[in-house]
Amino acid sequence: MSLIKWSEKMSVGNAALDRDHQTLLNILNQFHGVMRGRVEREALSGLFEELAHYTEYHFEMEERLMRMCAYAELEDHKALHDGLKRRVAVFKDRHAADPENFPLLEMFDFLSDWMMRHILREDMKISKALQAAKRKKK
Ligand SMILES: [Fe+2]
Ligand SMILES: [Fe+2]
Repeated sequence: MSLIKWSEKMSVGNAALDRDHQTLLNILNQFHGVMRGRVEREALSGLFEELAHYTEYHFEMEERLMRMCAYAELEDHKALHDGLKRRVAVFKDRHAADPENFPLLEMFDFLSDWMMRHILREDMKISKALQAAKRKKK
């Protein structure tokens, strides 16, 4: 799988969320860089830390926004976030336990696929709800 690029079609219509998504994709691409030899393998444990922290931060921010607009599918969306956080934690532990045999490609494919789908299917819906809530306030 190749690098994942953010494009306008992935915009959820909210500048802060778009910026976060771009950062997340950049972190994933660093893993890709390790596979291609453009990024040192030694960088991996730091990248896992960054990925875990940034997903945590970003998901919290989305959940806050969903609460703000009384988003009906908050619990379902949060369950998807929690599932991904658990997957990231498992990847991170697995890498720490046995860095030599860590399946980087498998992880990259899984995470990039998850992110793209999640942004396009789920995060898009939040932004619509936020915009509707804003219109109501006016
Ligand atoms: Fe998101
Ligand atoms: Fe989300």
